[in-house]
Amino acid sequence: MTPANSTLERSSARASKRPRWSRRNPYSAVVVRNELLTAPESEKEVRHLVLDIEGSGLEYQPGDAVNVTPANEPALVAAIVERLGVPGETLIADRKGERTLTNALTHGFEITSTSPYLLDHLANARGITEVADLLVGDRAAIEAWSRGRDVLDLLNLDPTWSPTPEAFLAELRPLAARTYSISSSPSVHEGTLHLTPATLRHPATDAWGDGRDRGGAASTYLADRVDEGDTVGIYVTANKSFHLPEPDTDIIMIGPGTGIAPFRAFLHERSNDDGNGRNWLFHGARHRDQDFLYREEMWAMEADGNLRLDVAFSREQEEKVYVSHLMGGEGEELYSWIRDGAILYVCGDATSMARDVEETLTAIIRDYGDFDDDGARAEVERLREAGQYRRDVY
Ligand SMILES: Cc1cc2nc3c(=O)[nH]c(=O)nc-3n(C[C@H](O)[C@H](O)[C@H](O)COP(=O)(O)OP(=O)(O)OC[C@H]3O[C@@H](n4cnc5c(N)ncnc54)[C@H](O)[C@@H]3O)c2cc1C
Ligand SMILES: NC(=O)c1ccc[n+]([C@@H]2O[C@H](COP(=O)([O-])OP(=O)(O)OC[C@H]3O[C@@H](n4cnc5c(N)ncnc54)[C@H](OP(=O)(O)O)[C@@H]3O)[C@@H](O)[C@H]2O)c1
Repeated sequence: MTPANSTLERSSARASKRPRWSRRNPYSAVVVRNELLTAPESEKEVRHLVLDIEGSGLEYQPGDAVNVTPANEPALVAAIVERLGVPGETLIADRKGERTLTNALTHGFEITSTSPYLLDHLANARGITEVADLLVGDRAAIEAWSRGRDVLDLLNLDPTWSPTPEAFLAELRPLAARTYSISSSPSVHEGTLHLTPATLRHPATDAWGDGRDRGGAASTYLADRVDEGDTVGIYVTANKSFHLPEPDTDIIMIGPGTGIAPFRAFLHERSNDDGNGRNWLFHGARHRDQDFLYREEMWAMEADGNLRLDVAFSREQEEKVYVSHLMGGEGEELYSWIRDGAILYVCGDATSMARDVEETLTAIIRDYGDFDDDGARAEVERLREAGQYRRDVY
């Protein structure tokens, strides 16, 4: 083999390992089902989507994630176009080539959240004191102020500013794909890929003063703008550190809210293998009848003896009950599973749930494993490093 040939072979071997579908080249998957999982009267809105991936070459394991390329809401796009005072058909030239302003705002840029470049421009080039004061504060204050605000809010902070479309777009971030845990099992739900998105909606408040509802880009896209029969652009990201262990290993899964998504995949996959590993799920919902996700399936698995199920209903009594409280109540048994090698998985909210769960886990290990506080913390670290404590939190 000549050196040139071997280089060619190595690079084509690399190319064939590269996933065919990617951020730049997403697969157009047909939506087979798009249904509401939560009760219509629930304050939560969580959906179940089934995508057809038959023949796509897309492959996934339970624990992996799917990325969705969203399209922004037409009403918000139209409002920004109107504010810029030019026709939506105005042609914009950038490194993506030439496209209309409406197309660029729909598919090219983040418009549902604030942009750091735009904030910086307003503070420094436009002298907007509210923003300048904000930017000298800490990150948490900027995040709190930004929550629910979008780029139209920022534009409207300076009514005298009339940027050209190009100057305005230059201050925005490119539109990113959104990641969702895959909630299906490739061996049970063959040829399909399921996801479980919660819809982010910020209904108009008096404080906004403009009567405009705001919402998340991808979650409202999936809820409001994608019907059965439509296509969505997707690609898969493997998450090797969150895959299932051998079928005979016990697993403990902690997933309140949409954190249940990968565990639905795990449980279906495991119902289809012939291992003896036990499965224990802690789920959390506000109300049993409203937002206990996939409850019929979970009850059926429990009835078949394939699942030990503990669900914390946070709003059915005066005091909040969370997954961490239920874990604490089962501390002795939970510790015995961990001591015997069970893998512990946590999925869902990173900010408060995952922290509370880790505190409870540390207390359980201290109380039932004969450790002091420092020893229990070190043991949690050991479990993490050994891959016995795995988190996928967002
Ligand atoms: C590994 C991973 C797995 C995930 N799996 C799931 C899943 O299974 N199901 C799921 O629903 N989501 C999941 N997510 C979150 C998902 O990727 C999106 O972040 C989520 O759907 C919001 O995206 P959006 O485009 O609708 O909102 P954006 O357009 O990104 O948000 C708009 C604005 O809403 C505000 N905002 C953002 N988040 C919140 C919030 N939580 N509460 C209130 N206001 C907020 C902010 O001001 C934000 O700027 C996962 C994320 C990761 C990283
Ligand atoms: N960063 C992102 O992109 C992103 C995207 C989506 C969601 N999230 C975060 O994830 C959270 C969960 O979203 P979700 O829609 O899946 O769930 P959710 O329905 O908001 O919550 C599920 C259950 O968890 C409870 N809970 C609240 N705090 C808890 C805690 N510290 N420990 C244990 N349980 C707790 C809730 O109780 P109560 O509501 O009664 O308190 C509810 O019963 C959101 O609130 C958000 O902060 C982040």
